[in-house]
Amino acid sequence: MNVYIVTLFPAMFQGPLTESILKRATEQGLVQFHLVDLRDFATDKHRTCDDTPFGGGPGMVLKPEPAFAAVERVREEIRAQRGDQGVRDAPVILLTPQGKLFNQSVAVALARCQDLVLLCGHYEGVDERVAQHLATLELSIGDYILTGGELAAMVVADAVVRLLPGALHAPESPHEESFVGGLLEAPQYTRPAEFRGWKVPDVLLSGDHAKVARWRRQQGLLRTWQRRPDLLARSQLSLEDRRFLDCLRQQLQQGHETEPKISDS
Ligand code: ADE
Repeated sequence: MNVYIVTLFPAMFQGPLTESILKRATEQGLVQFHLVDLRDFATDKHRTCDDTPFGGGPGMVLKPEPAFAAVERVREEIRAQRGDQGVRDAPVILLTPQGKLFNQSVAVALARCQDLVLLCGHYEGVDERVAQHLATLELSIGDYILTGGELAAMVVADAVVRLLPGALHAPESPHEESFVGGLLEAPQYTRPAEFRGWKVPDVLLSGDHAKVARWRRQQGLLRTWQRRPDLLARSQLSLEDRRFLDCLRQQLQQGHETEPKISDS
């Protein structure tokens, strides 16, 4: 996969792209990051990329010319590598708080792309013609305002690249993580089995894989029910899952408000 990041602040990416999984994925040849400096595509000697908004108002708006020129250069490069179809298949993603909310399903879909173009918005906004006629997708990483799209682009790049086959140590790891099945993950423990008097649940030490799997499923359901009930409504639940949730609801009605009891067996 090629990830082209179009930004006013390429230096911000030095740390995140050269550590941990992203570093390893790059070294393994699974991904190549291309940092594209928007200022290289400004047309004046001051390399100006922003201007005041028409109609007045505070702040500065990212100009369309450098954004179009930078992305068009990237698309030429993709065309040279993979032809017209390659260009058609490569999403141009504008990171903006006005975009569709990024989540694990979007990450899974993007992980299938050969090329991704991440365009980082900055300042108080981006000229609307960039959103309308250059970006093919607008993504937000959450309902809060960041200083710019750079941190959001890092989040998207990280969530996508770790899904590429071979990026993680254990091949099965991404499938068991929170959100993949629409549920939060069960709690995890490692040695020691007892720390400051807090014990690891017996079931995890039992060596009984079926029991462990059942306990994890139930813990995932419990956590999701307690912390993210919105996810439960959209997740795929078995008959056993539904029975378990009914049982939790009954316990709640009977007054075990804070911590419903789940048996180890
Ligand atoms: N730029 C500023 N805030 C953002 C957000 N929440 N998501 C994506 N890009 C942004």
